[in-house]
Amino acid sequence: MAPPLTLQQHLKLHGELPTGSGNLPAAVTAAGLRGRGGAGFPTGRKMAAVAAARSVRGRILVANGAEGEPASRKDTFLLSHAPHLVLDGMALAATAIGARRAVLCLHEGSPSLGWVSEAVAERRLVGMDRVPLEIAVVPARYVASEESALVNWLTRGKALPTTKPPRPDQRGVAGLPTLVNNVETYAHVALIGRHGERWFRTVGTPAEPGTMLLTVTGAVADPGVVEVEMGVPLSAVLELLGGVTAPISGYLIGGYFGRWLSPAQASGLRLSADGLQDVGGMLGAGVVLALPASVCPLSEAGRVLRWLADQSAGQCGPCRFGLPAISMTFDALCRGQLDRTGWSRLHRWLGDVTGRGACHHPDGTARFVSTALSVFQEEVQMHRHGRCTHPRASFTVCDLPQTPSRTAVGQA
Ligand SMILES: Cc1cc2nc3c(=O)[nH]c(=O)nc-3n(C[C@H](O)[C@H](O)[C@H](O)COP(=O)(O)O)c2cc1C
Ligand code: SF4
Repeated sequence: MAPPLTLQQHLKLHGELPTGSGNLPAAVTAAGLRGRGGAGFPTGRKMAAVAAARSVRGRILVANGAEGEPASRKDTFLLSHAPHLVLDGMALAATAIGARRAVLCLHEGSPSLGWVSEAVAERRLVGMDRVPLEIAVVPARYVASEESALVNWLTRGKALPTTKPPRPDQRGVAGLPTLVNNVETYAHVALIGRHGERWFRTVGTPAEPGTMLLTVTGAVADPGVVEVEMGVPLSAVLELLGGVTAPISGYLIGGYFGRWLSPAQASGLRLSADGLQDVGGMLGAGVVLALPASVCPLSEAGRVLRWLADQSAGQCGPCRFGLPAISMTFDALCRGQLDRTGWSRLHRWLGDVTGRGACHHPDGTARFVSTALSVFQEEVQMHRHGRCTHPRASFTVCDLPQTPSRTAVGQA
């Protein structure tokens, strides 16, 4: 892999960083940029809220580069190619909101750490940034990269989510108003700061302008990360990566917190929040996974579910009791050993855990399971009658990171 662009190469390609960036929150709002970390929240609105929050002790900026979503590689790809674009966006936004610190968070063991550290050192050497840029390493657990968990980690060394008011934009790191955005979001901010909102709107859709990074994986000829415009047809993305290499039984769009779609639902699909709305889907972290029909979709879903159940911080009921019970019951279904009572329990529990946690981990997990049950109905019925026609061998959707011990996140 080619090394990332040096500061000099980066400035030659993109031009100098604007010093007086005007009203950046207004420009970002006019550009229509939405967050690329999963929820798609309007970035300018969040930025304006933090800038307007009263605070005599200043504000904090956090860049979420943890990439907790196991099927996603886009943030690592971005930081490995263009770390300065992300740091530019952080620097511009930090100045615009009056931040006193700007912290880029990476997971423990992240391959991005070396590249980003070098890039930060290059900028320090030339005294490029008014607001000091820092790097923080957070535990490599899925929920540790949820924004309130990052705030808790940076404040008191416990990466536990507490998504209850006040939100980070009101009271975040060390009690200060905190802007948390995904690293790709900051890269877009850097480009809007340089080229303006009109330029940003020249691609994408009017409601969702700009480009996005997608991680495309599964049964495609050349899996990897691509930059495409918002609203691009799924078929065009698959084509870009050499096309699918096998009959497909379903697509996972958005990642482990996204949803499964049948090939019929995916046909003619455009990749944007609007485009996915009709099928109840979401872009999430920009993952597209094409599952080949040759593998058992239920054993794949069961494997991911086991991982998700294990990843919670275990501090709320739905995660402590609900997800492990759902996972065990789903495993029984996969083994063809689920009776009628177990089947109705599984459905009841999926409803019970939704909306009951401090963060959205149980909701995302329940959505993953419910959509698997609906998209792979035929396989579900066969398994309920004790049959599976697929080979036993599991298709590895992606390399799941190792699970460190729960105490690493300071479990409550
Ligand atoms: C369990 C969980 C894990 C998450 N992991 C990430 C992550 O690794 N990276 C990320 O940018 N956002 C992640 N998010 C979303 C963040 O909480 C937050 O919404 C995002 O960083 C905001 O950035 P954006 O507005 O630029 O999208 C996660 C959310 C949840 C519920
Ligand atoms: S819902 Fe689950 S993951 Fe979220 S804070 Fe509670 S225990 Fe942790």
